[in-house]
Amino acid sequence: MRILVTGGAGFIGSNLVDHFLGLGHEVVCLDNLSTGYKKNIEHNLDNPNFTFIEEDIREMQTCTLAVKGCDYVSHQAALGSVPRSISDPVTTNGVNVSGFLNMLIAARDAKVKRFVYAASSSTYGDSKKLPKVEEEIGKPLSPYAITKYVNELYADIFTKTYDMQCIGLRYFNVFGKRQDPNGAYAAVIPLWVKQLINHERPVINGDGSYSRDFTYIDNVLQANEKALFTDNEKILKGQREYYRSEAEIPPRRDNLGLDEHKYLLQVEKKKSVVSSQKPEGDLGKMPVPMGEKWKDGKMVEAVSGANTLDSQYSKIPDPWNASSNIPSEPNFQHSSSYFFSEVFNVAFGGNTTLNQLFAALRDNFAKFDEKIDKIEPEYGPFRVGDIPHSQASIIKARTVLQYKPQYDLEKGLKLVANWYYENLK
Ligand SMILES: NC(=O)c1ccc[n+]([C@@H]2O[C@H](COP(=O)([O-])OP(=O)(O)OC[C@H]3O[C@@H](n4cnc5c(N)ncnc54)[C@H](O)[C@@H]3O)[C@@H](O)[C@H]2O)c1
Repeated sequence: MRILVTGGAGFIGSNLVDHFLGLGHEVVCLDNLSTGYKKNIEHNLDNPNFTFIEEDIREMQTCTLAVKGCDYVSHQAALGSVPRSISDPVTTNGVNVSGFLNMLIAARDAKVKRFVYAASSSTYGDSKKLPKVEEEIGKPLSPYAITKYVNELYADIFTKTYDMQCIGLRYFNVFGKRQDPNGAYAAVIPLWVKQLINHERPVINGDGSYSRDFTYIDNVLQANEKALFTDNEKILKGQREYYRSEAEIPPRRDNLGLDEHKYLLQVEKKKSVVSSQKPEGDLGKMPVPMGEKWKDGKMVEAVSGANTLDSQYSKIPDPWNASSNIPSEPNFQHSSSYFFSEVFNVAFGGNTTLNQLFAALRDNFAKFDEKIDKIEPEYGPFRVGDIPHSQASIIKARTVLQYKPQYDLEKGLKLVANWYYENLK
């Protein structure tokens, strides 16, 4: 398969390039090196399966040429960082929204099999709910968060309107080799590691009580691979079928843990309240609104969630089932990718405060240099646009994509410690 990785010279993108090449695929990397580095992909430049295009996704023609002949797109290119977006929202919007739209259009016109893109936990905004569940978001807290949410909206519309398959992966604080420690917009882990290694005192924004779900890069690689290549028919036919088919409940329930079981119930409650009849008017391929029940051409009260899966499943007819009473109009039948636009949290599912993170980093790097053990952090003001707590529910990715993260913060730090020590000194 030929995969276009945009932003492939950046931290996550370059790790994805290596991963996909390692799986035997051809990879095209499109990157303008604005925040990425040639050194991240240098080792691949002589590989006949690798092509590097140093261009900008804000140029439509570039996107069209780059995606030509590709089967899949893994879209990672963006300007990250909340503070950067606050100081320069126009440029962030240009790259993250206009660039994203260019890539979607190019991917649509090239008829790629699937478009998987980097979404972000920042989309949860001011929602206080923990853990973060995909269906419940708050208002964005920064221009960066707006751009990432707009990506999801565009992907959704392109799925419905142009019959594309799009999957967004909401990354939660990813860390690992090649993450840039330099500059005003560096992420917290490489920044603090670099400071510790150089015997400087890291600054904690706030009192250190804010917490994050730090996610090791190898978990992210796994999620991307699953999202790009899943051929789980049940997903391809649409989530509603996936969660509704009565025949599949007993074996699936036997295999589920309590969390997965609860998750299915929760999704079922939300998504089961759908039409059993087409609403009036020419809606073409537009889906029936979620959360509403239609009867005799009119919207009626939403069905409240039943108490058990069994009663829920047996009470509500599956509107997409051949035996249900949907009028057989050709343009109302759902295609294989009808409900394909999905977003998934990609995280470990843990919760580490900044104070705990500092202690973990100090412990890890004191093994290389005992002077590091004596370093204390400094405390500064809270940063505008920062979400206080961010912990993911990963049940949806576990259940639908079979995502199984293998590395928690501790394991990830152990794996990357040598690389940090050799490269950030
Ligand atoms: N690192 C994280 O924790 C995290 C969390 C949530 C979301 N994300 C998202 O994941 C993606 C990758 O992030 P990263 O941490 O690897 O950042 P990164 O800055 O290392 O990588 C981004 C890459 O995109 C390239 N790029 C930027 N503007 C471009 C343009 N106009 N044209 C072509 N290439 C361009 C950069 O040169 C860089 O190589 C981004 O979309 C980011 O928003 C990252």
